[in-house]
Amino acid sequence: MKIAMVGSGYVGLVSGACLADFGHDVVCIDKDPGKIERLNAGIMPIYEPGLAELVASNVKAGRLSFTTSLAAGIDGAQAIFIAVGTPSRRGDGHADLSYVYAVAQEIGENLKNPAVVVTKSTVPVGTGDEVERIIGAANLPHQIAVVSNPEFLREGAAIGDFKRPDRIVIGAEDEFGRHVMQEVYRPLFLNQAPLLFTSRRSSELIKYAANAFLATKITFINEIADLCEKVGGDVQDVARGIGLDNRIGSKFLHAGPGYGGSCFPKDTLALLKTAEDYDSPVRIVEAVAKVNETRKRAMGRKVVEALGGADQARGKRVALLGLTFKPNTDDMRDAPAIAIARTLQDAGVDVVAYDPEGMEMAAPLMPGVQMAQSAYEAITGADAIALVTEWDAFRALDLDRVKALARAPVLVDLRNVYRPDEVRAKGFAYTSVGRS
Ligand code: UGA
Repeated sequence: MKIAMVGSGYVGLVSGACLADFGHDVVCIDKDPGKIERLNAGIMPIYEPGLAELVASNVKAGRLSFTTSLAAGIDGAQAIFIAVGTPSRRGDGHADLSYVYAVAQEIGENLKNPAVVVTKSTVPVGTGDEVERIIGAANLPHQIAVVSNPEFLREGAAIGDFKRPDRIVIGAEDEFGRHVMQEVYRPLFLNQAPLLFTSRRSSELIKYAANAFLATKITFINEIADLCEKVGGDVQDVARGIGLDNRIGSKFLHAGPGYGGSCFPKDTLALLKTAEDYDSPVRIVEAVAKVNETRKRAMGRKVVEALGGADQARGKRVALLGLTFKPNTDDMRDAPAIAIARTLQDAGVDVVAYDPEGMEMAAPLMPGVQMAQSAYEAITGADAIALVTEWDAFRALDLDRVKALARAPVLVDLRNVYRPDEVRAKGFAYTSVGRS
């Protein structure tokens, strides 16, 4: 089957490469000529494990190509995916749909064959109706269906998530849409991945409900972690104790500095806006968004406490290990490290940081933060070390070396990577999250 993927960003590129790997003939389209030129030269616009290799092998096999021309790219395609960005609209937090609608318009102007138009971008309920209206206005003579097919890819694990999904959600209003989507995902279906067919509006809402629920789970355990610190409990034991209940499940119960990234913050906000528009409040999600936002600065204050409090902190130096919102990505969007560094700077602390992939993205977002070339360089002369992102490279630091290089052996582990007894036995003053 010929498939067009409009938008060669994170979602489009990963989905396009994986669909090509299933044997489909995929064209990835993007307006940015520089990006397409680099992709044609095998240079990825993002860091995602395994992506460069997957793209290269499918380009070589002749199943994957790149173009800036939407008209040429969609020609003969039976499925046309819209995978462009839907950032938070400046000022009000609504998802900005202008890119999605512009693509729909261009599809209407250029489509010459029957096709299913698939919205993969995360879009508020009712967007599919508008896409259908825009394309319908072109009065095309052939059959068109507009389908919703949200993505559930995690950055850093996106290829695995695409190829071994928990489920594939397809919101289609007619048989044509359902049939073509079944063909698109036939290889996964044969692999027994559940294909869930729903109405288009339900499918659009599933995406937001899933992200809001996961954000809620994280925020819940983060507040329980704070309570553990006060009452003398261990949040990891509590998480295990509740997670073994199948009704709760053990995933997404890792306490930390608050969720970040391109999805949870933006999608919770957009869901709140939809709820507001329909006069149907989602108060739990409202609380989640607020609690998470305040948590990031609170984590900065935790580091200030470890330095001996605001009186002692001024003029001291803190090493931040890990800047990206999670490991295995260079994505800095809404990363807790940004607010943590700012809080430290506000307290008069010098911040030096190291991240295996994120420093280039981080530098403009963190003015005044000095970037080091390695974890050990960052640690040298530091009065405290804050582990912010759990990159593998920080999981087994040589603690004797760390102690020798740092000015003071103070470790604030915001991801609970280390065992308190082991680190304290090495002579560190050790603080973590939710472990008294
Ligand atoms: C998330 C969802 O997990 C994907 O299913 C979804 O497709 C994606 O958003 C999206 O909407 O595109 P992602 O943002 O890449 O994926 O990353 P996650 O692994 O979900 O982590 C998000 C944030 O939550 C990170 O800051 C992470 O550190 C934090 N987190 C996650 C915790 O603090 N504790 C946990 O137990 C899990």
